[in-house]
Amino acid sequence: MEYSLIDGKATAAAIKAEIKQQVEAIVAAGGKRPHLAAVLVGHDGGSETYVNNKVRACAECGFESTLIRFEADVTEEELLACVDRLNRDASVDGFIVQLPLPRHIAEQKVIEAIDYRKDVDGFHPINVGRMAIGLPAFVSATPKGILTLLQRYGVQTSGKKCVILGRSNIVGKPMAQLMMQKEGGDATVTVCHSHSPQLKDECRQADIIIAAIGRPDFVTADMVKPGAVIIDVGTTRVPDATRKSGFRLNGDVKFDEVAPLCTAITPVPGGVGPMTICMLMQNTLAAGRHEYYD
Ligand code: GUN
Repeated sequence: MEYSLIDGKATAAAIKAEIKQQVEAIVAAGGKRPHLAAVLVGHDGGSETYVNNKVRACAECGFESTLIRFEADVTEEELLACVDRLNRDASVDGFIVQLPLPRHIAEQKVIEAIDYRKDVDGFHPINVGRMAIGLPAFVSATPKGILTLLQRYGVQTSGKKCVILGRSNIVGKPMAQLMMQKEGGDATVTVCHSHSPQLKDECRQADIIIAAIGRPDFVTADMVKPGAVIIDVGTTRVPDATRKSGFRLNGDVKFDEVAPLCTAITPVPGGVGPMTICMLMQNTLAAGRHEYYD
């Protein structure tokens, strides 16, 4: 079967160009340039890359950005003081604290310290709760990016059976909410995870599979109904001696054997990843415009 590749990189580039145009219109009208701050703790390679990409995306969108770095031994108190400063800094429209945090810091405490009106990651319980009942809110960037990709590629989701693999707060849970909502995917949603006994059977019945379990090549051909649409959220670093970096990003889907069965599929890299950063930019623009909150 001829499948179409869902190009997240190109879609993200187009949306960032749209954002940039809107920003320049705001500035030309005498408004404030949106300003995103990012807090990075420690030197985790993946987190460094993600945050650098976020800062670069800000420049592409015409945003101001500020990167605040701490060593891995920063105290919870110091980090909370930084969050408090950013909450009160009127020049900052939105900010993120890159996760994961070192084990001695209570992640949830940090998330809940962020002013929900500046929580462009959409991780604060107020945003999570408002999103869940369909109220205007900052929505977690990865699920928002996936829904946008499905919409821009004209994938029919209404009334379809969607299986989500993974139940994380950042991807699986908000994805399930968005896909089931009438104003979202309007689909019938099943969430599977590491303790789901009938996981393969569930997948085989799915019109859409969203794989976000962080296990390389987990979704194999025998789990996919012919004609399905596959969204791969996996980005596990696996050693690869042929790469300069020494690793490559591996998705949750065994692409080579699954792709020929699909109607459409996202690649890794170049699928969901670029959309995640792009949706953070969209959320920052919304924060600058006070779209959801005064
Ligand atoms: N770690 C992995 N994904 C994310 C994200 O979307 N935001 C933040 N802050 N940390 C992350």
